[in-house]
Amino acid sequence: MEIINDVNQMQQRCLAARQQGQRIAFVPTMGYLHAGHRSLLEEGRKRGDLLVLSIFVNPTQFGQGEDLDSYPRDLTRDSALAEAAGVDLLFAPEAQQMYPRGYATYVDVEGLTDTLCGRSRPGHFRGVTTVVTKLFTIVQPHLALFGCKDFQQLAVIRRMTVDLNLPVEIIGMPIVREADGLAMSSRNVYLSPQERSQALALVAALRLAGKLARGGESSAATIIKAVSERIVSEPDAQIDYIHICQKDTLEDQPVVGRDSVLLLAVKFGNTRLIDNTYLFEEV
Ligand code: PAF
Repeated sequence: MEIINDVNQMQQRCLAARQQGQRIAFVPTMGYLHAGHRSLLEEGRKRGDLLVLSIFVNPTQFGQGEDLDSYPRDLTRDSALAEAAGVDLLFAPEAQQMYPRGYATYVDVEGLTDTLCGRSRPGHFRGVTTVVTKLFTIVQPHLALFGCKDFQQLAVIRRMTVDLNLPVEIIGMPIVREADGLAMSSRNVYLSPQERSQALALVAALRLAGKLARGGESSAATIIKAVSERIVSEPDAQIDYIHICQKDTLEDQPVVGRDSVLLLAVKFGNTRLIDNTYLFEEV
């Protein structure tokens, strides 16, 4: 596995691979890799000739008072995991190279970013879409893989890719869960044992919602109320949002249908977790 830190060198390396006719599969991450990332890499390995992983804790997607400084980092461990997963090229740039002095250009997707996590984390998606555009320009991938746990992020990136005519196929991969159902996240390491066990309320609530919908309940308000009651039965849970939305537009859906997704964000202590499910699919 090659490791490249320099932006220009990476761009030249990827351009050369493209010119040799290699199909580039790209998995952008902020590192601290887990089984969710591994599933993206495994799929990328199958679909591409050159598997590229980026590890970059992107400062522009963190708001004031968020966990940029404490975000878990372990490049040595991540490099070993990446190599074992068959990564050909690991790109790990420094923030000063990605955002040099005088940097002034941002990509903003309107509408889709005004709701859900966009409302709670102003500027977050602007940072995500800016860095993903930059990474696409540097890596020039044929396809890029993202996890469906960040459902809104995936919808925003799909919109951006279409709107800007970026020649990249966007692939969304299913959520990977721990054996007990907690969705994999690099932020799970922040949870105390008590919070970790209370956080299982999220998957329990998603399962409850699915059961209600599949049992014939069509009112989003009724389902959201049941989900909310299940979550607040945990003493440390603070709900940020629970919404039932249309899968592409992320508009609230008062009456649930086959295209409805339940999305939630809940804080346990200082750790904010997100999760989601299609209501007519089993979690
Ligand atoms: O999902 C993530 O890890 C990040 O938001 C991404 C897409 C790598 C951009 O920094």
